Amino acid sequence: MIRRKIIAGNWKMNKPAADGGALAKDIVEEIGRETSVDIVLCPPFTALQGVGHALEGQAIKLGAQNMHPEKNGAYTGEVSAEMLRTLYVTHVILGHSERRTYFAETDAFINKKVLAALTHQLKPILCVGETLAEREAGSTLAVVQRHVEAGLAGVTKEQITNVIIAYEPVWAIGTGKVATTAQAQEAHAYIRALLTKLYGAPLAQKVRILYGGSMKPANAAELLAEKDIDGGLIGGASLEAKSFIELVKAADAAK
Ligand code: PGA
Repeated sequence: MIRRKIIAGNWKMNKPAADGGALAKDIVEEIGRETSVDIVLCPPFTALQGVGHALEGQAIKLGAQNMHPEKNGAYTGEVSAEMLRTLYVTHVILGHSERRTYFAETDAFINKKVLAALTHQLKPILCVGETLAEREAGSTLAVVQRHVEAGLAGVTKEQITNVIIAYEPVWAIGTGKVATTAQAQEAHAYIRALLTKLYGAPLAQKVRILYGGSMKPANAAELLAEKDIDGGLIGGASLEAKSFIELVKAADAAK
């Protein structure tokens, strides 16, 4: 397989600094310095530094859950790509459905963040996916297309392989309702086809597309066996070392 699998943990607004550092240490102890899977931990801002210390010299990477597109300035409550870089952050989740829904983030704003992240050598994990109403209305692929095309506007051929896309059907996030492998693979293949149209087949084949939405050890193997599913963006099951490590093992077995 030309694409290395990725397991990324999205801790959301969980784990204060001390707990986050402890969880990262537990994961590091199990994983060691070498992995065949790319692993990214995305704690809340206040735990970035502590988790970063636990990951020093290890193979596991540090990710943030959001950032502002500007370098600095009067944006109360926000954090820039440069600030994240000083904490050795390498990845950043952008356009998560919770940000789109609760914080009214638009495709245009998310696109600015994607471009700013790439300019600052951060790898964006761009989240896309439909709500239940959109799926029931038959507009899943149209929504995915809009999220992908608008999110990637202006991203060059040189940059695209640094972008990770996460297909996260909103109705599957935190609900325990996982997409069927067929539903997930259909969306992933569609995203790969969009990337092929935008960047050509050789580059599109290199971009990693993750699945997110109630992925857990019990359903991971089946999802990860699909041709276009290159890993997982994990919420609930990333909050405990045991289940997170089982997911890493499932990705390792599926590679
Ligand atoms: P979940 O969250 O695994 O808890 O469904 C996934 C996500 O929101 O990234």
